[in-house]
Amino acid sequence: FSLKPYNTFGIDVKAKLFARFETVQELQELLRMPELENEEKLILGGGSNLLFTKDFDGVVLQNGIKGIEIIAENDTHTFVKAGGGEVWHRFVLYTLDQNLGGVENLSLIPGTVGASPLQNIGAYGVELKDVFEELEAVELATGDIHTFDKEACRFGYRESAFKNELKGRYLVTAVTFKLQKNHTLNTSYGAIKTTLDELKVIQPTIQDVSAAVCHIRQSKLPDPAQIGNAGSFFKNPEIPLALYETLKVNFPEMPAYPVSETAVKVPAGWLIEQCGWKGKVIENYGVHKNQALVLVNYGGASGGKIQQLAYDIIASVEQKFGITLRPEVNII
Ligand code: EPU
Repeated sequence: FSLKPYNTFGIDVKAKLFARFETVQELQELLRMPELENEEKLILGGGSNLLFTKDFDGVVLQNGIKGIEIIAENDTHTFVKAGGGEVWHRFVLYTLDQNLGGVENLSLIPGTVGASPLQNIGAYGVELKDVFEELEAVELATGDIHTFDKEACRFGYRESAFKNELKGRYLVTAVTFKLQKNHTLNTSYGAIKTTLDELKVIQPTIQDVSAAVCHIRQSKLPDPAQIGNAGSFFKNPEIPLALYETLKVNFPEMPAYPVSETAVKVPAGWLIEQCGWKGKVIENYGVHKNQALVLVNYGGASGGKIQQLAYDIIASVEQKFGITLRPEVNII
């Protein structure tokens, strides 16, 4: 079964078995099937944050659970529950339509609602955890349904318990979000302000902020429907402030954002660009011309080749700056 249409990198690998489910009951029935019991399981959302490097000798489970509904509200907030298989941006459009604030900065992020908590998706000053209420997940080993609140998810920068101590154990079937009736906009990110000014918006609404974010993303990031990619390939590394001060002597232009009294985050895209990789094309793959953090497959590249490129980038950044980049995408 070819997985090429199921990963945004467009890597042509095969899975031994593939199953799609549209309800929790269907999933539980699949998990009870004797022929699947001992198979390795890979959960697939939009396939937008992974790089396949070889065929998968197990069963790929595709989450097709849909539905978005308001489940509760109070004076200030509305609680919206969305199926894990919903396309993330479709959920964002729903919130804009209902005039509920909180996810407008997360417009146009590829992938599904069910995958969003795994890496605590984030962009333009907002992270999923800021609007997260709880999620429901099915335990693969038992088929039991569990509820996880924010604390249990242990969110961090592109991190959660589901990428660490709970890795591979649960499948997210629904997520509940806490959205604002009265909006607090986050326009702290420079490019949002500039774009709103360009669009001559004076009193921005959540719909305006979403439009600005879509505009910025479309100008910087390649559309996976046209060029295979999985967004940021690496995380922005956190380094000790002391190391940053030392590096500043030789690299006075080096950007950084404070994360604590003793640490800063450095944009990986800048480090990669300084090493000369930005826009580099090797055969049919390479580094995107507008954003060095994004590796691209122009068509037909193998996952192994892209993985090798990632290793080469890591090695050169390490050599020049003494900083070790870590992949953000799941390499399988
Ligand atoms: N930069 C360069 N060269 C590049 C790219 C970036 O010099 O080729 C420097 C510039 O100084 C720029 C700074 O990096 O000002 C920040 O760049 P950008 O605003 O594009 O953000 P980023 O740090 O590269 C992160 C997220 C993105 C998210 C943007 C906007 C990570 C790993 N990536 O990228 O998330 O959209 O911020 O908030 O944190 C993703 O996770 O797939 C993703 C695209």
